[in-house]
Amino acid sequence: MESFIIKGGRSVRGSLSVRGSKNAALPLLATSLLADGPCTFSNMPHLRDVQTQIKILNTLGVQSEWRGRQVHTKVIDSYNNTAPYELVKQMRAGVCVLGPLLAKRGECQVSLPGGCVIGERPIDLHLRGLEALGATVRIEHGYVHAKAPKGGLVGAEIYLGGVAGSSVTATENVMSAAVLARGTTTIECAACEPEVVDVADCLNAMGAKISGAGSPRITIKGVKRLRGCNWKVIPDRIEAATFVVLAAACGGELTIKQCRPDHMLAFLDIMRQMGVTVERRGTSLRVGPQSGRTKACDLVTLPYPAFPTDCQAQTMALAAISQGTSVITERIYPERFMAAAELKRMGADIRVANGQAVVTGVAHLQGAEVMASDLRASAALVIAAAAAKGTSTISRIYHIDRGYERIDERLSSIGIDIQRASA
Ligand code: EPZ
Repeated sequence: MESFIIKGGRSVRGSLSVRGSKNAALPLLATSLLADGPCTFSNMPHLRDVQTQIKILNTLGVQSEWRGRQVHTKVIDSYNNTAPYELVKQMRAGVCVLGPLLAKRGECQVSLPGGCVIGERPIDLHLRGLEALGATVRIEHGYVHAKAPKGGLVGAEIYLGGVAGSSVTATENVMSAAVLARGTTTIECAACEPEVVDVADCLNAMGAKISGAGSPRITIKGVKRLRGCNWKVIPDRIEAATFVVLAAACGGELTIKQCRPDHMLAFLDIMRQMGVTVERRGTSLRVGPQSGRTKACDLVTLPYPAFPTDCQAQTMALAAISQGTSVITERIYPERFMAAAELKRMGADIRVANGQAVVTGVAHLQGAEVMASDLRASAALVIAAAAAKGTSTISRIYHIDRGYERIDERLSSIGIDIQRASA
C-alpha cells in the first residue's frame, strides 16, 4: 500500500485549480440511467470513487468513455438491474442508482451500502421516499429489492426529514425517481446542498420539470421520458475549502481558482472568525499572507447552508495549532472524529466525547507516523503534516485518492514537500 512522506514547515505559494465536485459527479453519473440518449459530463474529477461509479453503471448496461475531463455515457442494454455488493461496498454513493433504476426500469436490486468509519450510514429515508412513490421495497440478503407498480411510480407528497435533518443522497435518489413518475411530487425537508441543485439542473436539462432545488421544498412534475444532455459538474467546494485550510495552516499565499465561493459562505465565515486572511476574487479565493497565528473558534456542523461536516476534520487540524480552545460539535456524524487520534500522535491536544471535540491549540505539531482512515480525516492529516515541524508518514492514502485528484502532485506544485511512496 502507498503512503505519503511529508516534510513539514514549508509555506505555500502560487495557485491551484479546483476540480469538479465528487459529490455532484457521483449522483450526476447515476442520472445517465434515466436518459434515452447519450450524455456528456464535463469537468469530471479523475477520482477512484468516480471510477467505481462508472464500473457500477457499466454493470447496469451504461457504456462510459473518458475523453480528458469528460465522461461520455450511453445506455446500451437494460438487462442487468443489480448493483453488486463488491462495488457498492467500496463507495456508498453507489446507492444513487436506486432511484433512476427504479424509475426507468421498474425493478432493481441494489446492495446495501453498509456503514463506514464516519458512522452508521442508514438509507431508511431513501427507501421511505421511494415507497411513498408507490414502490414496494424489501431487504433480503444484504440487497434492497425495489419494484415499481405496474403503471409506474406515482407522484406523492413526501416528508424526507430524518434525525439529523435532511439527507443529500436520499433527496437526489427520490428526486431522480420522481422525474418519470405519473403526476407531481413534492419533497419536504429536501437537502439544499449545491450538489443537489446541480443534479436537479442537469435533470431539467434532460427535460425534467423540477423546481425549488436548493430550498427545503422541491417540486417535480413527472414527464414521460428524458433525453441525453451535456452537463458541466460544479466545482468541488470541499476541495476548495481543504486548500484554504492548508494555506492558513502553512502560511504563505495561495490563489484557489475555478471555485464557487458562494457555495462556501458558512465555511468562509468560520475561517474569518479564526483570523484567516481570505478574500473572494470572482471565482477565485486569495488566501494569505497570514497576519499572525490563527485563533480558536467554536463550530457546529449542520446541513447546508450551515458549516459542512465534510470540512470538519480539516478545520480541526487548523484549530489544533490555533491560539485558544475550539469546541467542534458534529451534528451530522457524531463519531466523525477519526482524525483526532492521529493528530494527537502529532502533539495535538484534543478531547473527544459525545459528538464534540475540544481542541486546545499548541504552538506547532510534530511530524509522526500516522494512518489515514477516511477521506476527510486523511485530508486533515495532510494539512497537519504540512504544517508540522519534522517529517510525517501517512499510510493507507488510498482513502485520500478517493476524493482528491493527484493531491501529491498538486500540493508539490505550491511548495509542499510531499512524496508518494510505495510501502
Ligand atoms: C452526502 O452523504 C455526502 N456524500 C457526504 O460526503 C456528506 O458527508 C453527507 O452528504 C452530509 O453532507 C455524497 O454526496 C456522495 P446524508 P449522504 O444522507 O447523502 C442520516 C465525503 O466525505 N441519514 O446527507 O450519505 C445520516 O446518518 C462524503 O465527501 C439517515 O438517517 O449523507 C446522517 O446523520 C462523506 N437516513 C445524515 O442523515 C438516511 O436514509 C446526513 O446523511 C440517510 C441519511
